[in-house]
Formats: sequence, C-alpha cells, structure tokens
Amino acid sequence: MTVSSSAPKHIAIVMDGNGRWATRRFLPRVAGHRQGVESLRRCVQACLDRNVGVLTVFAFSSENWDRPAEEVSGLMSLMVSVLAKEVPKLHANGVQLHFVGELSALSEKVRGGLLQAEAATAGNSRLVLNICFNYGGRWDIAQAARKLVAAGEAVTERSLDGAMALAHCADPDLLIRTGGEFRISNFLLWQCAYTEMYFSDKLWPEFDEAALDAAIADYAQRERRFGKTSGQVAGAANTRAASSG
Ligand code: FPP
Repeated sequence: MTVSSSAPKHIAIVMDGNGRWATRRFLPRVAGHRQGVESLRRCVQACLDRNVGVLTVFAFSSENWDRPAEEVSGLMSLMVSVLAKEVPKLHANGVQLHFVGELSALSEKVRGGLLQAEAATAGNSRLVLNICFNYGGRWDIAQAARKLVAAGEAVTERSLDGAMALAHCADPDLLIRTGGEFRISNFLLWQCAYTEMYFSDKLWPEFDEAALDAAIADYAQRERRFGKTSGQVAGAANTRAASSG
C-alpha cells in the first residue's frame, strides 16, 4: 500500500475535554482550561522539536459565547495572562503567532494584546502558530465571500481560498480532536476538505508528546488520494522515485 510519505507539515487540533478534566477533579471548569494551556505549551514545543511547520488550534469558538458568563470571562482573562507570560518565550523559540477569528467582537484589552503579540512575532519562521479565537468555519467562508464581493471580485474556489483567514498557510494535513467526540464543530470547514482526521479519547490536558506521536504515526499509515485512485497515487510515487534516483 502507498502510505503518506512525509510527516504532517500542518497539524490542526480541537482541544476538547478541559471541562471534563476539571469536573472529574471537583475543580471549576476554568481550572481545566488553565491545565489546557500547559498541554498547549507542551504541544508547541513538541511541534518545534518535530519540525511541524504549522500548528492551528481551536481556543474559542463563535459559539463559546453561549457558555456560562464566568467561564467566558475566565477564558478571556486566561488569554490576556497567557499572552503576557508566553509571548516572549514563543518569540525566543521562533514562533510566529496569528489570531484567527472575528477579533473586532473582543474587548479592547484582549484585542490589543492579540495584535501586539502578532506584531512582535511576525518576523519568526520556525513554527506558525494559529490560535483560532472567536472563530467559526462558517464565519470564515462568509467573511471571505463578503471581502471578494466588496472588492468586486468573482467568487471562485481559488479567490475564496485566498480570502480565507488562514490564507497564509497550506491546508492542514492532519486534524486531531481530543476528548472522545467525533465531530468537526465548525472548525476549518473549508480547509479540511482533504485533511486526515484523528480522534483521541484522551482529554486535552492529558494529551502529551506520546499521544501526539501516536497521531503522527497513524497519519503516516494513511494513503492520501485527493480523489485519485490508489493505482494513480502509487504510479505518481514511482515516477517521483525514479526521477530522483
Ligand atoms: C474545549 O473543552 C476547550 C475550549 C472551549 C477552550 C480551549 C482552550 C484552551 C486549551 C486554553 C488555551 C487558551 C488560550 C487562552 C490560549 P471543553 O471545555 O468543551 O471540555 P468539555 O468537553 O470536557 O466540557
């Protein structure tokens, strides 16, 4: 069987299970999100160590505003404190930060922090870290279409692709969802057309380097056909091997 020959260059993650992690320990849900930040820090380091070029994570969805007010404000404060603490370290490690979503709906304080972090790390290139915040896949498609219409441009697959909030990256190779659920939850709807999906039962705070390696190893066994047949994919791989050897 032809297998995916290379490691994933772009990994996207739905970091699910923080609330359950906290509830099982009789802690407030925000404590789970705090632990989730630790897991994210570990995951960023693991991606740097494994030369993954792009990591995209779902930190706050357009629908998360409907959670209890205490949890929403907890997540906003967490974002502000995480930025203050982590951005200098991310910068030192060559991480380029992007915040992807409807940022205009955020408070001045939160938005200012995000924009500052983006500006401070814009020159880095070891790892692109996209943090989706007040993000929804349907929002992204609609905002891209609105942008094109306002500019008087034709709406085509190619023009929409270029107007998406993640136009600075190739599509994800691998999408990981933790927490034992099997849904995409309005994440990267456009960009995941041919992304390989991996679902883990681990709650996000428990997702460690070994779990990431298991996901990457699983991906390496996949045959990515992009709509072609298995025979065509094998033929193209043989042609590439012959011309390089
Ligand atoms: C889903 O778990 C997780 C979120 C809605 C938030 C994810 C946020 C983080 C990992 C922290 C990173 C945040 C910043 C500020 C960088 P859930 O709460 O739905 O868990 P549950 O399904 O167990 O209830």
